[in-house]
Amino acid sequence: MGKLNIIDHPLIQHKLTKMRDKETGSKDFRELLNEISLLIGYEITRDFPLEDIEIETPIRKMTAKCIPGKKVAIIPILRAGLGMVDGLLTLLPVAKIGHIGLYRDETTHTPVVYYCKLPVDIDQRIVIICDPMLATGGSACDAITMLKDKGCTSIRLMCLVASPEGVKAVQDKHPDVDIFVGALDECLNENAYIVPGLGDAGDRIFGTK
Ligand code: PRP
Ligand code: URA
Repeated sequence: MGKLNIIDHPLIQHKLTKMRDKETGSKDFRELLNEISLLIGYEITRDFPLEDIEIETPIRKMTAKCIPGKKVAIIPILRAGLGMVDGLLTLLPVAKIGHIGLYRDETTHTPVVYYCKLPVDIDQRIVIICDPMLATGGSACDAITMLKDKGCTSIRLMCLVASPEGVKAVQDKHPDVDIFVGALDECLNENAYIVPGLGDAGDRIFGTK
């Protein structure tokens, strides 16, 4: 089963509290999401493989460690996942970026695909899927399936807030995918929104409601 990592660093909890507050506007919401994404990204990259390279310090030559950053791909699930990209790019500036467009049907709450553009060598990269909200888990599961269909074998899922239902859905369908979240909330409501959650992440990022 994929491991659930709850990254509850005090800075993340503090910033997430501000994001949950319904009085927080889009500008602050975006900035906070960016900051938290960097902090979760620090943990999601903790076990990244390192390579030896030869360098020369001002004193002498040495063999030193580096992350082969060209082997990473960041895949935001549109729209809301876009809000997590810049924070990750701060840590992984040469990562390639792909986009998967999914929206939840308002009645059935099941995801509908409307866009997919991925790096050509995606199957050779460590993939980080990002989306602030893991609610029913339908969107994340479908995005993971799309990436596996392209040959990806190393996939991590990064979310801000998850429901127990969403975590279970991903763990059941994709037991090889580790999940990194800032918080695990209580449940879903009748509209499949996370409770207490933070509302509609896409609308809050882009100011569309
Ligand atoms: C939200 C969110 C996830 C999805 C989570 O996107 O950003 O992608 O819902 O729900 P699920 O786990 O039940 O699939 P939404 O469909 O609202 O689209 P948006 O990002 O364009 O607003
Ligand atoms: N999508 C959101 O943006 N928020 C939720 O709580 C659930 C799905």
